[in-house]
Amino acid sequence: MATGPLVRAVGVERTFGSGPTAVWALRGVSLEIEGGRLTALKGRSGSGKTTLLNILGGLDRPNAGAVYFDDRDITKLPEAELTRIRLRSIGYVFQSFGLMPLLSARENVELPLRMAGIPHKERRERSERWLAYVGLEKRMKHRPYELSGGEQQRTALARALAMQPRLILADEPTGELDTTTSAQVLDLLKRVTRETGVAICLTTHDPAIMEMVDVVYGLVDGRLAREEQ
Ligand SMILES: Nc1ncnc2c1ncn2[C@@H]1O[C@H](COP(=O)(O)OP(=O)(O)OP(=O)(O)O)[C@@H](O)[C@H]1O
Ligand SMILES: [Mg+2]
Repeated sequence: MATGPLVRAVGVERTFGSGPTAVWALRGVSLEIEGGRLTALKGRSGSGKTTLLNILGGLDRPNAGAVYFDDRDITKLPEAELTRIRLRSIGYVFQSFGLMPLLSARENVELPLRMAGIPHKERRERSERWLAYVGLEKRMKHRPYELSGGEQQRTALARALAMQPRLILADEPTGELDTTTSAQVLDLLKRVTRETGVAICLTTHDPAIMEMVDVVYGLVDGRLAREEQ
């Protein structure tokens, strides 16, 4: 296994459109994300956080520059190979949780496992283990509307963890949560990095979050500001 950072972005540029209406979303961004660490991308609305997160996770490709996942440049891989890496190694957690409304918490966690062809017994075992890990052992049969925002976000985290990824990308995971619940979710994210060795990279506007993460990268108009921690 590689010993360097799990993800390394080098000179990443991303523009949308062309000519006079082109938008420069990212200009020469280089950074590293390490296993066992909670990394934050912060910046104002429109600074390029989501664009960068999508490129780090192989959901989008840069116009220039490279992203190395485990020392392998993923920016030029064929789509099928990229999809395989995403499914096997990367989990996603979103601001609006992205849970299926008609499925219970356990069924939501099991869904990607089912799509990955994991056998029934192991699906059960993994979904129950990770829901218990995030403190929802008594909520497994509840549907999303019966869960609080924090519980829904923890369900989404359990769903990502059950796939045993090496990297979890979280776009504004506390954006719809109040201050106390945000702090609880962040504590949990940090504990997950420590206990499983997974790398977690999140985006946020919230200055209060900065003290709770290991590494902060600030984005201003698509450029990286000086690293703060
Ligand atoms: N698909 C797209 N087509 C055109 N422009 C885009 C596209 N995606 C993003 N942009 C532009 O790129 C810039 C960066 O957007 P991005 O969504 O990365 O910002 P952000 O920091 O995540 O903002 P927010 O905090 O509001 O989520 C913005 O100017 C945005 O309008
Ligand atoms: Mg965004």
